[in-house]
Amino acid sequence: AVAEVAAHLQESVSGMRVVQAFTGERKSSGRFDQRNHAYRRANVRTTLLSAVYFPGVELLGSVGLGIVLLYGGFRVVGGEMTVGELVAFVGLLNMFFQPIQQLSQLYSDLQSTLASLEKVFAVLDTESDRADSPDAENLRGLSGDVEFDRVSFAYGEDVVLDNVSFHIKPGETLAIVGETGAGKSTVVKLLSRFYDPTGGEVRIDGQDLRDIRGSSLRRYMGVVLQDTFLFTGTIKDNIRYGRPDATDEEVIAAARTVGADDFIRRFPEGYETQVRERGGRLSVGERQLVAFARALLANPKLLVLDEATSSVDLATEARIEAALDRLLAGRTGIVIAHRLSTVRRADRVLVMRKGSVVEEGTHEELLARPSAYRRLYESQFAA
Ligand SMILES: Nc1ncnc2c1ncn2[C@@H]1O[C@H](COP(=O)(O)OP(=O)(O)O)[C@@H](O)[C@H]1O
Ligand SMILES: [Mg+2]
Repeated sequence: AVAEVAAHLQESVSGMRVVQAFTGERKSSGRFDQRNHAYRRANVRTTLLSAVYFPGVELLGSVGLGIVLLYGGFRVVGGEMTVGELVAFVGLLNMFFQPIQQLSQLYSDLQSTLASLEKVFAVLDTESDRADSPDAENLRGLSGDVEFDRVSFAYGEDVVLDNVSFHIKPGETLAIVGETGAGKSTVVKLLSRFYDPTGGEVRIDGQDLRDIRGSSLRRYMGVVLQDTFLFTGTIKDNIRYGRPDATDEEVIAAARTVGADDFIRRFPEGYETQVRERGGRLSVGERQLVAFARALLANPKLLVLDEATSSVDLATEARIEAALDRLLAGRTGIVIAHRLSTVRRADRVLVMRKGSVVEEGTHEELLARPSAYRRLYESQFAA
């Protein structure tokens, strides 16, 4: 039971972004409750048993000693045994009972383990420091207009975003390119409101993100990261995480649309295939396809792909590329990618360097002039 609690905890913490991104907090904490209750029951039983066992052993030991002393005493008095023999016997008896009593040591070890567990819960109970403001509103519907208005951000001291502005109209796809550390993922984190900007405003449908309830925002938003986290359960469960009330047909339709259906069917158990913690037997590419199906099923108005195709093998890449168009159709998209073949699909491209936007335009516009984007493009295709 402890292992079960720990496994669920580990999953929920490592999969935190996924859980939050799909507003699954409540469901996840419900499941945590269940496991916790099971753990508690097991614990009460253990405690009960040891409460009977240890005093029992102690009692037996004492009564035994009493009998031995009494019986031995009579024999010594009767001259059938020497005092030395009796003392030796009592000594040996102690050596027999001592290891049994040492078991109680194990019990106290268990107690200290429980104390550690309590500390873990204390951490879990810590309030998020970006709690919604009391008058934050629930987002009712979203058309998918995204605006960064002179946004600055720093993790502590280091400025990571400096005066970043861009505007994505509903239905448009924006690609963000730039070297590692340029601040691309930070843009996504601000948009998901995992952090608030230190300067400027992030607006969705013209409304400052800080005035929108986080959970209501994430209901309309899908995020697929580089390495997708899959939960223990079947492939079907994992896809359905995007929308728990989806029917089997809808799950399969989503998988088919992103091109995941055929690889899933190749497993003997198909959609019922069990994936273990962190995805187990699926390849990275397959996991990404499952993630796309999950995102598609959730049908978000705003979809963000942060290097979702970066760690995928070439065979899967082609499939994912084809899925991208279908995935992004009819919604606002932000695609962060290294591969320019992915970037080219976007309506507009934003080039970032060291926390600033250095170029913006369509793929063709940027290629037409001696831009950083063109250098990137040439370096990729020269190879
Ligand atoms: N949680 C964090 N705490 C402190 N610094 C961070 C954190 N996340 C990212 N950074 C720093 O912020 C900068 C931008 O990171 P990131 O937005 O992840 O870049 P990109 O996605 O473009 O590679 C990097 O210098 C990185 O080291
Ligand atoms: Mg990144």
